[in-house]
Amino acid sequence: MKEYHVPVLLPECLEALDIRDSKVYVDATFGGGGHSAKILESGKDIRLFGLDQDPDSIKQSLVLQEKYPEKFVMIKENFANLRTGLALERIKKVDGILFDLGVSSHQINDPARGFSFQYDGSLDMRMDQSSDLTAADVVNNYSFEELAKIFREFGEEKEAARIANCIILERSKEQIKTTLHLAKIIENCIVSKKSIKAKARIFQALRIYINKEMDVLRTAIEDSIKMLNPDGRIVVISYHSLEDRIIKNIFKFEAKSCICPPEFPRCVCDKISTIEILSRKPIIPTLQEIENNPRARSAKLRIARKRSVL
Ligand SMILES: C[S@@+](CC[C@H](N)C(=O)[O-])C[C@H]1O[C@@H](n2cnc3c(N)ncnc32)[C@H](O)[C@@H]1O
Repeated sequence: MKEYHVPVLLPECLEALDIRDSKVYVDATFGGGGHSAKILESGKDIRLFGLDQDPDSIKQSLVLQEKYPEKFVMIKENFANLRTGLALERIKKVDGILFDLGVSSHQINDPARGFSFQYDGSLDMRMDQSSDLTAADVVNNYSFEELAKIFREFGEEKEAARIANCIILERSKEQIKTTLHLAKIIENCIVSKKSIKAKARIFQALRIYINKEMDVLRTAIEDSIKMLNPDGRIVVISYHSLEDRIIKNIFKFEAKSCICPPEFPRCVCDKISTIEILSRKPIIPTLQEIENNPRARSAKLRIARKRSVL
């Protein structure tokens, strides 16, 4: 298989998944299959279900499907629909689920997908190309308020309003159709060293918005926890603070055994703790991994185990 993507935090993920013979695992973000390939090598008679919404990943998975016809099944699905996707394969419970969030190197490096401001391509950014809304639709049609909100919320960009204004001015002269056109507008709008970070944040914000990344992530993590067998593991690598915050908060909530206000004399909430958090602090890559694979630099890994007695 052509290695499109060097798997991030690979030994840490394998250890965290605690792969055991004859158990069932899910790679919810198959990408180029780097993690999946190693998971398949790690256990006897295991079954692995790979998920990805990107047709390119489905093509990538053919090699593993041929190599492991008994062990490996690929599902083209948004991970928000993980439960139904697996139910169609008659799978209700699993023993480990891995998420390696964000875009794959393959997606980033393909100018036609429009994810990167370093290559000239159409302003697209859809991970699932059968969905309707593209980044160009948003940039050319949304109001000033809507654009500024997206840039603030999903890019945490302080100059959100100024950049939204620059976009509105430019599009009144000419439609903004390409990545480099949008990058140039941001560069001209934020004339300082800050413009590189601003470009990264605006592109991130548009990508998150187009793919509804925060909403689908919440649903997928909550559903995954429900699907785990006792002692099963959920293992998540995130690449920016918005994603990491969602994971951290869901894990914290699920681990709590009581959510009554502190002033209540006794517990009346019936909440049970469903997981034990195994990574009090997120695990981050070593300097050597970052040197070998700069894409790993912002990775944070969080792990939890489903409680055996609920
Ligand atoms: C960082 S890559 C995964 C790389 C993979 N671990 C590897 O080793 O090759 C993330 C993948 O998740 C997919 N993805 C992101 N959001 C998704 C979603 N909501 N549903 C399904 N797949 C998604 C992307 O299409 C991309 O292929």
